[in-house]
Amino acid sequence: MTEITSLKDGLVADIESTDTLDALEALRVGALGKSGVVTGLLKTLGAMTPEERQAKGPAIHELRESVTAAITARKAALETAALDARLAAERLDMTLPAEVAPQGSVHPVSQVMDELAEIFADLGFSVATGPEIEDDWRNFSALNIPETHPARAMHDTFYFGDNYQVDGKAMLLRTHTSPVQIRTMVSEAPPIRIIAPGRVYRSDSDATHTPMFHQVEGLVIDKGITLGHLKWTLETFLKAYFEREDMVLRLRPSYFPFTEPSVEVDVGFTWVNGQRVMGGSGDAENGGWMELLGSGMVHPAVIRNCGLDPDEWQGFAFGVGVDRLAMLKYGMNDLRAFFDGDLRWLRHYGFSALDVPTLSGGVGA
Ligand code: PHE
Repeated sequence: MTEITSLKDGLVADIESTDTLDALEALRVGALGKSGVVTGLLKTLGAMTPEERQAKGPAIHELRESVTAAITARKAALETAALDARLAAERLDMTLPAEVAPQGSVHPVSQVMDELAEIFADLGFSVATGPEIEDDWRNFSALNIPETHPARAMHDTFYFGDNYQVDGKAMLLRTHTSPVQIRTMVSEAPPIRIIAPGRVYRSDSDATHTPMFHQVEGLVIDKGITLGHLKWTLETFLKAYFEREDMVLRLRPSYFPFTEPSVEVDVGFTWVNGQRVMGGSGDAENGGWMELLGSGMVHPAVIRNCGLDPDEWQGFAFGVGVDRLAMLKYGMNDLRAFFDGDLRWLRHYGFSALDVPTLSGGVGA
């Protein structure tokens, strides 16, 4: 009996003083392995008389349990210590001063959004935002886009499906920035003058379409607003953006469910050394027209859906691709490169962080 007790004390002491997992494993094999001492003792039980077994059995079983428990406890302690050591060794001191100056550049999309905010701030517009995950009421229904409109078809819109609904409304990735019109008209009393830049999503992909792209929405709601205000605003914006006085706009009748009348706006460009340069009449001998944006007078139904009286309030809205504006001004030709994160592209087309657009300095300087 005392032999078993002292064997146990010895083994437990050894286990408790091991300081590596390998040494602990060696002890485990020596005690509990196939030919370990404890295993050996357990095997002697079979050859004992019932009396002997009754006398020695409990001590031998207790020996095995104590040794097993000691090994489990030591193993956990050693593993915790190993993890602590690793965490200490791999610790990064984030408060250390940077050794290398930051080398990033401002992405053309961010730069153009800043240019737009600058231009429209000067015209009295503020910047509004909305979430990229929208409900189908704000993205479609409130905008007078009926259930049967082709824009609702699955191939255009990324829906979340049945597993994600909010207040019983189907959720989706917004397909345009126009839901920000709804958000603004519902939450703010007119007069309203906002632009709303941001990401939008459509299930589409080629050289001129990416599943995510950027738009800027414009919305004016006030009394006595006419198509003339829309045309002047767009003309003023495009002159400031392209930094040319000779911007020529062509307004074509079009259709959007949320505007009536709807107007597609083309701008004249001029061929210079085989490149399209925005400006000049598209009807000139070396010119052409570039389709640029959708716009129109806000549909009375939309104004009513937002709780306003269309007999009192009128307005105009427009939507334009920010990436497209960047491509036309800075001469990129593949939209996909905008989102590849290729450092060579970013170094070539990116802007210095200090190159903040201002009207006085020329917005894109
Ligand atoms: N939301 C439209 C689109 O994405 C653009 C638009 C905005 C048209 C506002 C008219 C008025 O195509």
